[in-house]
Amino acid sequence: MNDPNGVVCYKGEYHLFYQCNPNDYTWWTIHWGHAKSKDLVHWEHLPVALYPSKDMGELHCFSGCAVINGEEPTIIYTSIGEGKRHQSVEAEQWMAVSKDNMITWDKYESNPVLTLDIHGDIEIKEWRDPFVWKEDDYWFMVVGGSHNKRGCVLIYKSKDLKQWKFLNVLYEGEEEIWECPNCFKLGDKYILVYSPNDKVKYCIGTINSNYKFVAESEGTLDYSGWEGFYAPNSLIDNFGRRIMWGWLTEQSRGDFKGCGEWAGAQSIPREISIKNHKLYMQPVKELEMLRKNHKKYKNVCVSKSWIPEIKGRALEIIAEIEITDDLTEFSIDVLCSQNHKERTSIKYNSNDESFCVDRNKSSLSTLCHNSKLTGTIKLEKGETLKLHIFIDHSILEVFANYRESISTRIYPIEEDSENIIISVLQGDNLNVKSFDIWKMTSIWE
Ligand code: FRU
Repeated sequence: MNDPNGVVCYKGEYHLFYQCNPNDYTWWTIHWGHAKSKDLVHWEHLPVALYPSKDMGELHCFSGCAVINGEEPTIIYTSIGEGKRHQSVEAEQWMAVSKDNMITWDKYESNPVLTLDIHGDIEIKEWRDPFVWKEDDYWFMVVGGSHNKRGCVLIYKSKDLKQWKFLNVLYEGEEEIWECPNCFKLGDKYILVYSPNDKVKYCIGTINSNYKFVAESEGTLDYSGWEGFYAPNSLIDNFGRRIMWGWLTEQSRGDFKGCGEWAGAQSIPREISIKNHKLYMQPVKELEMLRKNHKKYKNVCVSKSWIPEIKGRALEIIAEIEITDDLTEFSIDVLCSQNHKERTSIKYNSNDESFCVDRNKSSLSTLCHNSKLTGTIKLEKGETLKLHIFIDHSILEVFANYRESISTRIYPIEEDSENIIISVLQGDNLNVKSFDIWKMTSIWE
């Protein structure tokens, strides 16, 4: 699988579609896979939702979104043809509807709903990944692309999802391609999220009367990019929460053939909010139902290193660390073997306010990627560092004070790579104000 697609709440359930190749575990013949959940934790697999319509010259069903139009579930996605469809251009935006509670989908007889012609003289390349939302009586849509070799997000408007008007190039930037835009309102601000073939970015701001995005602040949504979290998609649920998933890529596997039966995963769902011009991301509280064997430590003073009692490959950790003037660098090693030869280090350095996932020793295999992924976490004066960590075999998701994150893939091979070690790397004592650790139950049990 790759990108999450068409995430939507329907009849009290969460639906998650995703880019998938049902024929192989490499990327090709892209369909839409489908799963649903009542609680955001336990998922039921449903039949493949979209197949490429070969008779229509369709090769792939690329990313897109799902909306409920009145009563009718509707998918809008990018259809990729064989190159002959629209002169030399392969991408069109198509629509499909479901009349049986989202199990089967019929493609709209008058597809395409949008072709590149809609932009008149403006030349757009790499045009894909529609995201649609409703505001007052209108549907709005953003699509990613490239304009004059600059990545961009384009915006359109419609009354009925079928007839669209191109409004403007909403926002653009340095990178050559922007994929999978998401645009949504939180309070009185708009958030624009895009994937520039690298680390996912966001901006917070407003949309002016010319349909230009006026950014007031910008940031990096996750510091992993292709090594982890990419092409996120989001929905608003019945409790009014904005919930986001990202594709946890399989890029880092490199030539390591560990699994061979599947590739790619979805991140845990995160609830998005804004505070002080920054995006906050909180793992949804439903995940707490998987916690077991809780162990809590309070006020542990670590002078060199410390090993908490619980170990495992599916763990949740919340660590609150006091950052004092004496401390400069510490690490929390996870998936660590008895002999320490294999380990993944989550590090914080107060000199440059950086935090990182150092994968240099994550696997004894030399076939997978071992680069260090680094982000910045600026703490307010007196603010403690709060690391919320999820470990799930080859997946590591780290949230720092819920406003920065690194989500990536690691492939330990040693049987006993399941220990946790906290170490002071530079400076004096480390004051661990609290350290909560749980084993996590499998969602398939
Ligand atoms: C992002 C992406 C999208 C595209 C899809 C194809 O990962 O490249 O732009 O629609 O994947 O699978």
